[in-house]
Amino acid sequence: MSKFQPVRGMRDFLAEEAKTMRHIEQTAREIARLYGYEEIITPVVESYELLAAKAGEEMRHRMYAFEDLGGRKVALRAEFTPSVARLVATTLKRASKPLKLFCTGSLYRYDEPQYGRFREFWQANYELIGSTRPEADAEILSLSYDLKEKLGLRNCYFKIGHVGILRGILTQENIIEEQQNQIMQLLDKKQWNDALAVLQELGASQKCTKTMKNILETQGKDVSKVLKRAKEIVKDYESAVAAVDNLRGIVDLAQEGEAKIELLAEMGFARGLEYYTGMIFEPYVPDFETALGGGGRYDKLVELFGGEPTPAVGVAHGMDRLALAMEKIKKTIKFLASDKERVIVIPIGEKLIAKALELSSMLRKAGISVEVEVMGHTVSKALQNASKRGFTDAVIVGAEELKKDKVVLRDMEKREQKTVEIKHLVNEILRD
Ligand code: HAM
Repeated sequence: MSKFQPVRGMRDFLAEEAKTMRHIEQTAREIARLYGYEEIITPVVESYELLAAKAGEEMRHRMYAFEDLGGRKVALRAEFTPSVARLVATTLKRASKPLKLFCTGSLYRYDEPQYGRFREFWQANYELIGSTRPEADAEILSLSYDLKEKLGLRNCYFKIGHVGILRGILTQENIIEEQQNQIMQLLDKKQWNDALAVLQELGASQKCTKTMKNILETQGKDVSKVLKRAKEIVKDYESAVAAVDNLRGIVDLAQEGEAKIELLAEMGFARGLEYYTGMIFEPYVPDFETALGGGGRYDKLVELFGGEPTPAVGVAHGMDRLALAMEKIKKTIKFLASDKERVIVIPIGEKLIAKALELSSMLRKAGISVEVEVMGHTVSKALQNASKRGFTDAVIVGAEELKKDKVVLRDMEKREQKTVEIKHLVNEILRD
């Protein structure tokens, strides 16, 4: 018998498994196309300093780090986000915004191998760069939901929280960032008592410990109720209140659209990565304990890498775990593609954002690549931007037309526009 086996935590994918993984990858790529994300390929080996900067203690510890023959301290990538942020801080610093990037490939973490946890694993990663607005966060939730749907994972739900709530309390109590990180790491592992003990050791006020304890216990599927209660608890902490309001805005958009994303709001939810500044979330399916993916807003990372201050939000889906979850329900789904059209949907005013999201889902279902305006631009600025970015059509959603179930469809190449009935919109777009 040969003494050679794959190294612990590494796997061979034989024909069937390889086919499933490629199917997931192709579906993820199709979602990227439908939402207007461009695919890029980044290196497996990166500088250790880049990967370690905001990875958090746990991940830093698990990195495959080594010195190359030239004496450089490098590591195998453990995630894509630092590589994307590096690109945005350097080569892509002048790219027009929003910048939407998709990447997929293998990653390496020296995790303890178990069901759904490997040392080489795969992610489908989406980053939306350049917008601070809740529409951008909601888009990341929506594409995550669509990916699960396309893979036949119908019963998934998203655990959701906001880093700004916990950090808002701690910052106002003068707890420095390093100590906050230590507390967040404990919360990520659900070690609440240890986290509260650290707070006490640091000499935090009784009020602070009590507020934290109450906020940690605030969770549930009735998101409105959870957020209302959270706001009451943190009412004396200004930036925590703003964080609750921000989360409320995101959740409203995510749930007003056509997709009824099931959410579990957890106010004490933290993720191990230290770069998050806003909304964070993880998709789950019942009977599968570990997260199928993870994501959130990180507005400071590009700046930390020497770029302009640039807001960003993104998600990575664990392809190995998606494969396992699909295997459980034994399902795959076929999809249609059309890649000529690229449509932007522009709502006139805040009130019509939800309608714009709904129309965009409708168009994507017909296989059309669609983006929703996420920069808060006026119509004329948005059209200018759309023409620069090479869209073929723009759908302008205005209150007057909507009253008659109509929208304005603009042919970006011919510079002509007409009012069309929503029920004919797909045909009108596909016709020319
Ligand atoms: P993460 O939560 O570290 O986030 O990883 C995302 C997903 O990758 C996990 O939910 C899981 O499905 C998969 N994953 C992680 N480690 C393993 C493992 N050892 N074995 C199998 N699957 C694993 C990130 O990586 C962030 N970069 C996500 C992000 C993108 N945030 C903003 N943009």
